[in-house]
Amino acid sequence: MRQQNIVILPGDGVGPEVTAEARRVLEWFIARRGLALRLDAYPYGADAYRLHGQVLPKETAEAIRTAHAILFGAMGGTDGDAIPREARVAGGLPQLRRSLELFANLRPIVTIPALYESSSLKNRLLPGVDFVIVRELIGGIYFGKPRGIETLAKGERRGFNTQTYTSSEIRRIARFAFELAGSRRRQVCSVDKANVMEAGVLWREEVQALRDAEFPDIALRHMYVDNCAMQLVRAPAQFDVIVTDNMFGDILSDCAAMAAGSLGMLPSASLGAVDQAGRRAALYEPVHGSAPDIAGRGIANPLGAILSVAMMLRLSLERPEDAALLERAVEAALVSGARTADICEPGMPAVSTSEMGAAVIAALERLQ
Ligand code: IPM
Ligand code: MG
Repeated sequence: MRQQNIVILPGDGVGPEVTAEARRVLEWFIARRGLALRLDAYPYGADAYRLHGQVLPKETAEAIRTAHAILFGAMGGTDGDAIPREARVAGGLPQLRRSLELFANLRPIVTIPALYESSSLKNRLLPGVDFVIVRELIGGIYFGKPRGIETLAKGERRGFNTQTYTSSEIRRIARFAFELAGSRRRQVCSVDKANVMEAGVLWREEVQALRDAEFPDIALRHMYVDNCAMQLVRAPAQFDVIVTDNMFGDILSDCAAMAAGSLGMLPSASLGAVDQAGRRAALYEPVHGSAPDIAGRGIANPLGAILSVAMMLRLSLERPEDAALLERAVEAALVSGARTADICEPGMPAVSTSEMGAAVIAALERLQ
């Protein structure tokens, strides 16, 4: 079996702590399930800037370009302000995603009965919640130009950004969502703000036209983003695939996370287009971010990172059975009572980041 290169970017904040556990899990699959992987960690983020003068050092940039898949922790620490804005933006996560053309960001939200009590939603809303937010990741208002802060007459200042989408950008992400829905429950909900924004009008028209022309067997409905935010907390089980733009997907995925019990539970995959050789660039990361307030204390929840490894097994390594095994092991670890602080119920003892990693490894040993 040919060896595949996995590049690990632990990054900042809690990134190194959670990726250490995700790495242990990958090492378990190498040792026990015969995966032929090479794991190499590279510097990226605030530490990289301190050591190499760049947020994204050259050797890291080269490594990720040839990687079979990237496992990323988080970026943006408390000392982020010590990095000049230009260097931070140039090496930042949005630019990294864009340089690899990772246009499709998948954020699955699945509820696990063992965590119903950790959710801020009522238990009766949680059975059957199993949906994916497909967020367009390299366009829209986070990248649109013009952008900036300008000074007007009399010292008044004006900050501005531009929401922009072309029809091909919209169709690219919509096609991804329809194809994904085809392997699921065949329902797509497209989210926009077409009642106010022209970019939303175009979004809606293009998504509908693509559905009508190429995906007649997929049920499509459109929803305004404000309504969607409400529906996610009112009746989250109604969704199968949600497709939306960069900013709306960013916001809705944090909101949806609470159905799963904690933002710390959410994995993600950011994917590029399949090239001629059949390969696609792929970056896997927990959704939670660097959480500088708890960094270095060994209390972060590593399950978002570990479940990102499950997504990697399924989407980049063609190991769907191993992906399912890992997801079952995460659930078993939770059923056995392992809880990090973010998902701990009152009166329950919380385990550390590495104890949670160990609980998942123990469950893998039991279940394999
Ligand atoms: C996310 C994060 C990032 C984003 C930040 C850290 C740039 O919030 O992945 O959701 O806005 O995409
Ligand atoms: Mg976000």
